[in-house]
Order: sequence, then structure tokens, then C-alpha cells
Amino acid sequence: MRWHTPAAAYQLISVGWLRRILGGDLPTRDVRWIPPFGTVVEVGAGAGFYTDHLARHLGDKGQLTAVDPDPGAVLKLQARGGFEAVCARGESLPFSSDSVDTVFYSYSLEEFDNPDAGLAEAARVLRPGGQLVLFLWRVNYLGYRKIMKSKALGDFQQVKGKWGVQNTRLVFAFTGAKTLSCHHRPATSARAITPYDR
Ligand SMILES: C[S@@+](CC[C@H](N)C(=O)[O-])C[C@H]1O[C@@H](n2cnc3c(N)ncnc32)[C@H](O)[C@@H]1O
Repeated sequence: MRWHTPAAAYQLISVGWLRRILGGDLPTRDVRWIPPFGTVVEVGAGAGFYTDHLARHLGDKGQLTAVDPDPGAVLKLQARGGFEAVCARGESLPFSSDSVDTVFYSYSLEEFDNPDAGLAEAARVLRPGGQLVLFLWRVNYLGYRKIMKSKALGDFQQVKGKWGVQNTRLVFAFTGAKTLSCHHRPATSARAITPYDR
């Protein structure tokens, strides 16, 4: 890994206590930004800084799937149990349309080459009225700016936000038009398509 990239810098500060001091990241508190029910997808879960806490936050009232394109990270997440973990990219999520209540990006969308494509995919899988929760790392200034200027965010209406020096946390409701479908879709699980099927 090249040490001047935002991802490498992030890895350097990714010790729990350092994150708490520098970014005010406190997983038990931060997961309260996510509604505690329904089908929730964490995109870019990585080493799972939030994932176990989020699974506990949802308890019996929700179903969590953690997604990351790094197979090694996903294997480690799967070994933990308590939630589902799949290997996929955020631009092509292995879920059927209108099947997810909350899409949560835990400091990952700013790493996408094309955040617009990620947001369009979030809009596809979200149910009407579903929520998009964005935790953004402002140090990755170029990625952050790309997201804030993204046209795809126009399909969402901001309902809550907190702008820190280093981190920004935002909640949006999906307000974009949905393509009406005549097909019956089981509402119990977000998983309907095998990873890489699409
Ligand atoms: C900065 S890390 C954050 C990891 C973790 N959520 C945390 O808070 O510690 C960014 C994560 O986004 C993932 N990522 C990068 N590009 C992605 C993409 N196109 N789709 C989904 N995840 C992606 C990376 O594999 C990495 O695990």
C-alpha cells in the first residue's frame, strides 16, 4: 500500500483509542445514527469498527449485512458471526431493488472512484422512504468534495447532520422516484441475489 493515499492514512489512525481522540468516533454512540430496525446494509465495513456494535444496536428488530470488496476483510467479518457479511462493491450491491431500509456508509463512500455510482446503487436497493446514513472522513478532501457535489444526492433529502472538524455524519431520506414493479418481492430478507450474480 502506498503511504500517501487517504486509505493508508486512515489505516494509520485506525487504532480504536486514536480514532476516539482524533475523530470522536465512539461506536456504541455512533450507531444510534442508524434506525434500530429493518434491513440494514453497511457498505465498506472493512475491519468492522462499527459492525458488531451495529448488530447489537439492531438486535432482534433488524437484520444486518456487512459489505466490503476485500475478501480477506469479509472472511474475518464472517468468522465473527451475529450478522451476514458479503464480498461485493458498493456500485453493484447483491440485493434486489427496494429491499433495504437503511444503507450505511462507514467512512467508505469517499473511497469510491465514482461515488455517484454508489449513491445510484443505494437509491436502487432502498425502499421508498428508506434512509441513507453517511459517515464521511473530511481528511479525504477530494473524495468528500466529490460526494457533497454529487448530483445523485439530489434523490435524497437531508434529515439530520453533524459536521465535525474531521468527521461528518449525515442522514438522508430517500425521496427519489421509484420504478413501480408488478413482481411480488419477499420483504423478509435483503439478500436475493448471490454476490457477483449481477
Ligand atoms: C476507510 S475504510 C473504513 C472501514 C470501516 N468502515 C471503518 O469505519 O473502520 C474504507 C472501506 O471502504 C471499502 N471500500 C473501498 N471502495 C469500496 C467500494 N467501491 N465499495 C464498497 N466498499 C469499498 C474498503 O475496502 C474499506 O474497507
